[in-house]
Amino acid sequence: MFSKLKLITGNANIPLAEEVARFAGIPLGDIELFKFSNDESFVKINDNVRGADVFIIQPTCYPVNDSLMDLLIVIDALKRASAQRISCVIPYYAYARSDKKDQPRVPITAKLVADLITIAGANRVITVDLHAEQIQGFFNIPVDHLFTVPIFARYFKSIMNLDDVVVVSPDSGGANRARALAKRLNSGLAIADKRRSGNNDKTECMNIIGDVQGKNAILFDDIIDTGGSLIKVALELQKKGAKHVYAACAHGVLSGNAVENLENSPIEKLYITNTIPLTENKKSEKIVQLSIAEMLAIAIKKIHIEESISILFR
Ligand code: R5P
Repeated sequence: MFSKLKLITGNANIPLAEEVARFAGIPLGDIELFKFSNDESFVKINDNVRGADVFIIQPTCYPVNDSLMDLLIVIDALKRASAQRISCVIPYYAYARSDKKDQPRVPITAKLVADLITIAGANRVITVDLHAEQIQGFFNIPVDHLFTVPIFARYFKSIMNLDDVVVVSPDSGGANRARALAKRLNSGLAIADKRRSGNNDKTECMNIIGDVQGKNAILFDDIIDTGGSLIKVALELQKKGAKHVYAACAHGVLSGNAVENLENSPIEKLYITNTIPLTENKKSEKIVQLSIAEMLAIAIKKIHIEESISILFR
């Protein structure tokens, strides 16, 4: 059993960390994280963490490489300050889509990042809606993989009539995720045949497998980045006679012109979570943000007292 529970945050998503701290009833630790004028990052932890069970909240979102480097140096500082256990709460795990060597001479960056985090001194990772579940195996330390499905399911049950809903996976790789939501909503499932022809804005939706005619379609994916994938499938859903098209994703990366493209698309509402902060320039009437803070707080408190976290999957 670990005596002191400490919660600290990097700079990547301070509002989320503050909300988690409120739910957990623990103040955020005192930490100074800054850059020297030469662009090198530095951290100083002002609290005593000797023998503590420390949780660092730091999604590796924009600016991705800074967020990652900050996470690594905070882990290093904690290790050298004799923290007993260091758990990294990384709600959004960047580079997750670089998870295989599917072309000659390309890296598996998701594995490299896992190695960096482990070598830095992390003892555990807590993350949310990984792009591929297998990424857990890139770590040789425990990974608690949490899901947003219960959060979205609860929300959709509270706002819509679920009689004619169909959950749509925008590609075959996301079918399990979409099936989990469909099961909770007691709805149908459809899968788009998405093909990628280049970089992340070059996707084609070839077909939709499943019945979407006259239905309220909820596209369910892990990430909306440029929006290209979801928008292409949304157009196809419209062609196939879907009544309304909504989208839900854990991670609202929303890079480039994603928000503008979303606004001009058939997607009526996009539901995301706060794994990544929704900055002012990305706000839109079409975007609704749900919070994962309570789920993270429960996970942290249970992990601290060595209890099962299965309650979060029910
Ligand atoms: C791909 O397999 C992912 O699950 C997402 O569908 C994709 O990466 C989202 O990227 P974008 O919004 O740029 O199409």
